[in-house]
Amino acid sequence: MSNAHVRPVVELRSLTRSFEQGGVRIDVLRGVNLDVMPGEIVALLGPSGSGKSTLLQAVGLLEGGFGGEILIAGHSAEKSNANARTALRRDHLGFVYQFHHLLPDFDARENVVLPQLVAGAPRKDAEARAEELLTALGLEHRLDHRPSQLSGGEQQRVAVARGLANRPDLVLADEPTGNLDEATSDRVLEQFLALVRGEGSAAIIATHNERLAARMDRVVRLHEGVLE
Ligand SMILES: Nc1ncnc2c1ncn2[C@@H]1O[C@H](COP(=O)(O)OP(=O)(O)OP(=O)(O)O)[C@@H](O)[C@H]1O
Ligand SMILES: [Mg+2]
Repeated sequence: MSNAHVRPVVELRSLTRSFEQGGVRIDVLRGVNLDVMPGEIVALLGPSGSGKSTLLQAVGLLEGGFGGEILIAGHSAEKSNANARTALRRDHLGFVYQFHHLLPDFDARENVVLPQLVAGAPRKDAEARAEELLTALGLEHRLDHRPSQLSGGEQQRVAVARGLANRPDLVLADEPTGNLDEATSDRVLEQFLALVRGEGSAAIIATHNERLAARMDRVVRLHEGVLE
C-alpha cells in the first residue's frame, strides 16, 4: 500500500535555535530536518546538552526564537497566530514531561479528566476515558489518590495517561521516565510504548535508554546540532 498521500504529523525544515549566554552564542540546533508519519514512534537520542529538549520545545510550539519551518499536520506554525497555535497544540499534540507537573490538589482520575474538559469533552466521557487509560497502565486501584499519595512510577504513569487523554496525533515525551530507577523506568516506558502503539498515535520520545529506543520504529540522534 502506498503512503504517498499521507501527510506527516510533523515536518521540521532546517530548524535552528541559538542561545546567547554571557556574550557567547551557542548554536544548539543547526538545521534539523525530520518528518514523522502518523503512528510512527521515533526515539530521539543524543548526549546531555545536545538539544533534545530544545527540539521538543520547538515542536510543542511553546516557545519562539526558532529559525526554519515547523509544520504540524500540514499547518505552518510561523504562519499561525497565537490562537491558531494554541488550537494546533490542543488538536494535535500531547505532552509527557520528565517532571510530570501533575496538579497536587486533584486525584489521578481528575488529573486525566481536566485536559479533556478544557478540550471540550463532556465530563462523563472524560471520566470513562481517564479510567480506561489509567486501568491500561495498572492504576485502577489508584484512581482516587492524589499525586502525594502515589509513588514516583505511579505519578509518571498518570502523566502518561494525561498526555494521551485527548487522543493526540503526536505525543512529545521528554525523558518520560528519567527520574525513576532503572527497573521502574523500563517498565513504565514499556507500558507507555504499548499504549501509544495501541492508540495509533505518533510519538517523539527523547530518552537515554538505548535498549528501549531500539524497539521504537526509528532512532534519530542529535549530533552537533543536526540529526543523523
Ligand atoms: N534558555 C537557555 N538559555 C541558554 N542556553 C540554553 C537554554 N536552554 C538550553 N540551553 C543550552 O542548550 C543546550 C541544549 O540543551 P537541551 O536542554 O536541549 O539538551 P538535552 O539534549 O535535552 O540534554 P539532557 O539530555 O541533559 O536533557 C545546552 O547546552 C543548554 O545549556
Ligand atoms: Mg533534556
